[in-house]
Amino acid sequence: MIEILEELERRRAAAHAGGGAVRIDAQHARGKLTARERLDVLLDPGSFEELDMYVEHDCTEFGMAAQRIPGDGVVTGSGTINGRLAFVFSQDFTVFGGALGAAHAAKICKIMDMAMKVGAPVIGLNDSGGARIQEGVASLAGYAEVFQRNVLASGVIPQISVVMGPCAGGAVYSPAMTDFIFMVKDSSYMFVTGPEVVRTVTNEVVTQEELGGALTHTAKTGVADLAFDNDIDALLAVRDFFDLLPPSNRCPTPVRAAADPWDREDASLDTLIPASSSQPYDMHELIRKVADDGDFFEIQPTHAANVLVGFGRIEGRTIGFVANQPTVLAGVLDIASSRKAARFVRFCDAFEVPLVTFVDVPGFLPGTAQEHGGIIKHGAKLLFAFAEATVPKITVITRKAYGGAYDVLASQHLRGDLNYAWPTAEIAVMGAKGAVEIIFRKEAGNSERIAGRTAEYEARFANPFVAAGKGFIDEVIQPRSTRRRIALALRKLRGKSLQNPWKKHDNIPL
Ligand code: HXC
Repeated sequence: MIEILEELERRRAAAHAGGGAVRIDAQHARGKLTARERLDVLLDPGSFEELDMYVEHDCTEFGMAAQRIPGDGVVTGSGTINGRLAFVFSQDFTVFGGALGAAHAAKICKIMDMAMKVGAPVIGLNDSGGARIQEGVASLAGYAEVFQRNVLASGVIPQISVVMGPCAGGAVYSPAMTDFIFMVKDSSYMFVTGPEVVRTVTNEVVTQEELGGALTHTAKTGVADLAFDNDIDALLAVRDFFDLLPPSNRCPTPVRAAADPWDREDASLDTLIPASSSQPYDMHELIRKVADDGDFFEIQPTHAANVLVGFGRIEGRTIGFVANQPTVLAGVLDIASSRKAARFVRFCDAFEVPLVTFVDVPGFLPGTAQEHGGIIKHGAKLLFAFAEATVPKITVITRKAYGGAYDVLASQHLRGDLNYAWPTAEIAVMGAKGAVEIIFRKEAGNSERIAGRTAEYEARFANPFVAAGKGFIDEVIQPRSTRRRIALALRKLRGKSLQNPWKKHDNIPL
């Protein structure tokens, strides 16, 4: 009996050794943790239950019969994060460079299937050379099996990808279809074709980092959401983030005991809006003063920063915040910000996270770059996302709400449930200057008359009361009372039940 038990321990030790000490040292020398060390940071101590530790590939090509390593380059199973269940896979770069073959893929698919069955999120730690070359088309089949599950799981369970090493070729499409992507600076990259191929095909010389590193994807492309200095920072951030998410679309987000009084007023908000309407102010300040304990987990802070999106809590419950940011491009909506906010709104709606929208928007960004880049289609994404969302939607217009952007940003006309405005709100088809230039074009040469007309327009429209007079704004509120108003609105809306008409699926402008 003792020998049998020892055999078990020997087999376990072989699996734990992965690709061996030399490759583990090489992983550490690059500043990277191993697959198992990463899971130790991510999950509650002692909570990880590994599955399929002894699975091996059955490939015999290219000398592979002699190279079988238990676990086959990916550690899979489940564990808890602050007591809540998560399914995980962590690719082991020390085993065949973390490359994915049939058995490796089957292990990932197994935990994805379990996660779907029980309704729990999947967190994937990606560190892989891509399709395992020796296994040929079986590797491609394995990827496709994972992709198919990513798609079916989308909107059912939250899926988080942490890219912590190479992620190239078609392999990028699994993280791309998950809800959130975190990356580690300098050690991770994502691209469809690498620098060598780029140089051959286009003559461009570019480094891995420039082409698809964490900074490129979190600032330029928006493919990834957040970039971290090292593995540990990234994994600890996933733990914090996980606390905000529901386990599935069948269960509500966790409620955290809130010490922050729901009716806390903040007098400093009364002076947040500068005297001049062209002067910026930082919308983070409003979000932080409204959210419990000032906590705001911002998504994509360095991409399309003219719109802010992220999660906070009110009365301990997760809220999705969407807000124009006047300090960046005056908070205008453009292609990148429309896409960023639309995807966020759709995540919140899929997982029943109420939306709070703070509006200070001068409109959509003019210019050939925007028009030819398809602002019509991309702006429509945000309009579509807000319009189809059935979660509680609360909107506060702090200052400008001009033109189509007024409609788009969770207006009452798009089934906004409670739409508030601060007394500083300006709700109109456009700003005074543009409006007067159009409707009083004949008086253009007369600067005195134009100044008079502008003042008249401002007096008439640069306020919330025209909209409030039509019932489009439910109440004009004191800025200091914003948290209290939102908390009350959220309480009221907890029983909200609204269904869209049956359809196979919609046809959002992609
Ligand atoms: C099998 C692989 C592998 C792969 C790496 N290895 N990639 N084995 N299939 N795809 C093995 C190496 O042989 C090596 O084994 C170990 O992993 C570490 O690799 P190194 O090259 O020594 O490491 P490094 O210098 O850090 O370079 C890492 C790398 C490079 C950039 C990932 O290995 C690389 O370019 N690999 C090929 C990437 C690729 O073209 N993948 C296919 C992409 S297409 P030993 O035994 O020496 O430790 C794709 C299609 C998916 O993924 C399609 C889905 C639709």
